[in-house]
Amino acid sequence: MWQRFTQDARRVVFFATEEAGKHGESHVSTEHLLLGILRAENCLACRALLAMSADPADVRSKIEEYIADRESCLGEDIQLTPRAKRAIDIAYNEARRMMNDFIGTEHLLLGLIGEAEGIAAKVLASMGIDLQKTRDAVAKLQQNAGTASSDFVAGNPSKKLSGQDLISISSLDRSNIEAVFDMARRLKCDVPAEEQRQLLAGKNLAMIFEKPSLRTRVSFEAGMTQLGGHAIYLAPSDIQLGKRESIADAARTLDRMCDLIMARTFAHNTVVELAEHASVPVINGLSDLEHPCQALADFFTIIEKKGTLQGLKVVFVGDGNNVAHSLMLLAAKVGTNFTIACPEGYEPNTNIVEQARKDAAETNATIEVIRDPKEAVADADVVYTDVWASMGQEYEAEERAKIFAPYQVNAELMKLAKPDAVFMHCLPAHRGSEVTDDVIDSPQSIVFDEAENRLHVQKAVMVLLSQT
Ligand code: CP
Ligand code: NVA
Repeated sequence: MWQRFTQDARRVVFFATEEAGKHGESHVSTEHLLLGILRAENCLACRALLAMSADPADVRSKIEEYIADRESCLGEDIQLTPRAKRAIDIAYNEARRMMNDFIGTEHLLLGLIGEAEGIAAKVLASMGIDLQKTRDAVAKLQQNAGTASSDFVAGNPSKKLSGQDLISISSLDRSNIEAVFDMARRLKCDVPAEEQRQLLAGKNLAMIFEKPSLRTRVSFEAGMTQLGGHAIYLAPSDIQLGKRESIADAARTLDRMCDLIMARTFAHNTVVELAEHASVPVINGLSDLEHPCQALADFFTIIEKKGTLQGLKVVFVGDGNNVAHSLMLLAAKVGTNFTIACPEGYEPNTNIVEQARKDAAETNATIEVIRDPKEAVADADVVYTDVWASMGQEYEAEERAKIFAPYQVNAELMKLAKPDAVFMHCLPAHRGSEVTDDVIDSPQSIVFDEAENRLHVQKAVMVLLSQT
């Protein structure tokens, strides 16, 4: 059932279970769900309550009056009371009525009001809040946000990524990441094509490529078309950043003509400089230091396959490169344990490791850099690899092939991971080098799901960056 809840609605339920626990209750009831809504401060339901002049402190104290004398039974498993269950059924129907497949906090609030016998409904009724008034308040908030979508779009500004750039995973906070995943899921599963065509209608994306690409180019270009916009491909020979004109001048020019810029560069600083001089959002489509879109698509894919990110073990076998950096940073932010096994001299960038460890301390994740690939993949939920020589390092390919030979992901190595471990690769793959055919073509391999998800996740990123 919880899979059908938006991230915000799940947060509300989580807070509700905490509220129940705090009050010594073994069952989550409607009043705990209402307290959960109040704690998820920027969720749509909370904002609808504020729009109806319901002061959170008042709501809270009225609930406290109701539940002050109840008996405590702390320690038992927390479940939903029959009334809370009925409220969620009503929430589900509200979501359907509003043409949403996911239950958002606004539906939850409507469900709580609809379950008239619950304490939440009684408290809200005493404040003059009924179903119609709430539906009107929610509709108005959604209209103001210029979208018919649920919490994560209309939610707090930091979730929208609006006006920001996506240069590094390190600039994202947890709510940004959740917003990208929620939006990607909706675009992949729910939002009809004709509705999608309105989302970036009339917008232009400039795509600067200093390096070759299949997935990045096609996913951004097809994605932009699906969202009603247009993508302009600028090949390495077209603008010759820094040679034909300065990076800053190119950025200032594109800024006047386009609404978004995506750049695949050699030096990471090139994409940073573009972002500094363009007022429109700039997206890193891979630099020598990072590949943030790849990592977001990969973790979105892991959620699809494993249902969660927290507590999983993702193992990267190979070069401490751009892809490894973004995966490591993202793992740390979402609470996924990350281990990289790499040869001496090919470790990930120390600043990135340091940053990831700092973030991991907050999410209880571990970040390990070790040598032995066999030791690394023990108990892995995900085994990931990438080419041994990245674009721009082709001249080192021969030497690297010798050094990285013990780091090949083959069937023998995969056997050491968990039996249900999945294999991932950002692609393009050098079959027979970093991965063998029997692994990349095995049922454990999810490499083409990853590739497909580049499309959905980048569409989500572009929509969120473009929100006004
Ligand atoms: N994974 C990836 O970025 O692929 P391309 O290099 O083909 O864009
Ligand atoms: N590390 C590889 C990733 C390709 C998508 C490279 O930079 O070439």
